[in-house]
Amino acid sequence: MKIGVFDSGVGGLTVLALSRICLPDADFIYYADESHVPYGEKTAGEIIEYVDYAVSFLVKKGVDTVILACNTATSIAVGFLREKYSIPIVGMEPALMPAVRRHPEGRILVCATEVTIHGEKLRSLIESSGSDPDLIAMPELVRLAEAEQFGIPETVKYLREKTGSARDYDAVVLGCTHFSLFRDSFRQYFGRETDLIDGNLGTVKRIKAVLGVGEDPCLERAAAGAGLPDRKVKYYFSGSYVRRKAELERLERLEERYISMIGV
Ligand code: DGL
Repeated sequence: MKIGVFDSGVGGLTVLALSRICLPDADFIYYADESHVPYGEKTAGEIIEYVDYAVSFLVKKGVDTVILACNTATSIAVGFLREKYSIPIVGMEPALMPAVRRHPEGRILVCATEVTIHGEKLRSLIESSGSDPDLIAMPELVRLAEAEQFGIPETVKYLREKTGSARDYDAVVLGCTHFSLFRDSFRQYFGRETDLIDGNLGTVKRIKAVLGVGEDPCLERAAAGAGLPDRKVKYYFSGSYVRRKAELERLERLEERYISMIGV
């Protein structure tokens, strides 16, 4: 079984990492569109063109399914892709539903890219959730993640600026996969009481259902320190095969960073 995982950049590595733990026998191709990141500031036409190119690349490589590990790409392009390609395409959306389920009367913040925040998909998700979350775009976090700038005071300062110093949320939805690489900074700023929710586990569960692979408590295994299994991943940057050892180590380091913060 071969699974294509797509993101504009390194954010989707968080989904890849969890998928590797939950589907240790699968082969993966990770496609990061490093030539065009960030998507959060592109037009819908550009995003569709880039994602279409990437998915056709993955299909030519023989993947059985594609995970769009990118909320922004899903928001704009998932309908188009499902029309065009016959393999299953699993998208991602901000995990608002789980946040509302856990905190039905709670105060919820959804942070994502500009494109996701202003998109029709999020509007209808909010409507069907019956909730009234605050919405904040945080484009700088995408840039910081791409530059591997973690654990710096600027991130917490940025969260303070963006939220106008509000911290009293019951749940914060990390609606961009890049943001999952900053769980430590979100935790530092919002404190212990706030539930930090990303859509990664839900996405992996969906891919397992699509592939007909049985349930297993993989998140618990990951949280209990199950490391990444042997690498069965090929990485591509906008179609170019990544072979440099230092680069491969960087990507694996980012995956490990995410796994180490699952319980944070
Ligand atoms: N990681 C992407 C997401 O989940 C998008 C980041 C970007 O390219 O702006 O939305």
